[in-house]
Amino acid sequence: MEVRVSGVRKEFDRFPALHDVSLDINSGELIALLGPSGSGKTTLLRLIAGLETPTDGKVFFGDEDASLKSVQERNVGFVFQHYALFRHMTVIDNVGFGLKVRPGANRPSKEEIRRRSSELLDFVQLSGLEKRYPAQLSGGQRQRVALARAMAIEPRVLLLDEPFGALDAKVRKELRRWLREIHDKTQHTTVFVTHDQDEALELADRVVVMSQGKIEQVGTPDEVYDRPNSPFVYSFIGESSSLDVSIQSGTIHLGDKALDLKSEQADGKGVLYFRPHDVELLGGSEARISGVVIASRRVGATRRVELEIDGTESRVEIEIPADHPAKVGSPLAFLPKHWRVFGKSA
Ligand SMILES: Nc1ncnc2c1ncn2[C@@H]1O[C@H](COP(=O)(O)OP(=O)(O)OP(=O)(O)O)[C@@H](O)[C@H]1O
Ligand SMILES: [Mg+2]
Repeated sequence: MEVRVSGVRKEFDRFPALHDVSLDINSGELIALLGPSGSGKTTLLRLIAGLETPTDGKVFFGDEDASLKSVQERNVGFVFQHYALFRHMTVIDNVGFGLKVRPGANRPSKEEIRRRSSELLDFVQLSGLEKRYPAQLSGGQRQRVALARAMAIEPRVLLLDEPFGALDAKVRKELRRWLREIHDKTQHTTVFVTHDQDEALELADRVVVMSQGKIEQVGTPDEVYDRPNSPFVYSFIGESSSLDVSIQSGTIHLGDKALDLKSEQADGKGVLYFRPHDVELLGGSEARISGVVIASRRVGATRRVELEIDGTESRVEIEIPADHPAKVGSPLAFLPKHWRVFGKSA
């Protein structure tokens, strides 16, 4: 285990930014912290870096309590959300900076710093730009310099806070692939913050989904997408549709109608969640979720249909084959192939 966050709480002036957060980060793993704005991602990253101290709980590096270690001693490489390179230093001096400011005995020679810095620039595919100043680079090139600079100190852990946040979608996509390749080569333990689900799902070995200062779920991209464990994760990752239902003797009911869906949950009210594309159209309306088409539009290879559910005022969206007519006003019935019910209070 590389980093262990154990029961951490962080308050700012009594405002709890993190509540009881625990997370194990394995050596060599690329982990994404994913959550909406204000969910505590940056705060958690800064606590790992040692730039903040927990109000409660501990952070361990290996077996050692990191609260006894300074930011330098933790040996982390950090790329900030809105990162500024040193404007008056060339690209190569920016990369070598962390080595140059090391205390005497640990500081490599000038030549060694230069050699390592240009090796890293080569690695991030920026050779030839050594003598440029940050103002003479594109946004994507600057972030690559920032990453080379964070890696120069041979960090134990790389912490990246939305490193590509300010860049346009196409460049982001390229850098995302590139970062994954770099990670596969270097095997640095990396914690990557993003509020972009595609970025997290494509890039990470494991995704940590955060909401309101809490960890909602930790899992592989497949696990958090295919088996969301809370209504928040269902709606935050991928698309979801939901309907108010009740559970009566192991069967899910929509109003008075028993659906052909079984649940082991206790009787009571709940909300049924499913993916709009993960449904099966069925004839008849008995034991099905049935409704009337309110809107229908062609989206790429499929058709998106909004249904008003019989006997309710609820509307849900489903995705069906493009060749289905789905005329407005016509009846349609379906059942989700995969789904989950969460208790009403959850
Ligand atoms: N220094 C601070 N003083 C007071 N409150 C803070 C401080 N830093 C963060 N907060 C609060 O803690 C909460 C979590 O903030 P944090 O920056 O960790 O969110 P985030 O998930 O990184 O959001 P974003 O995606 O917008 O960067 C927010 O409500 C924020 O206002
Ligand atoms: Mg942030």
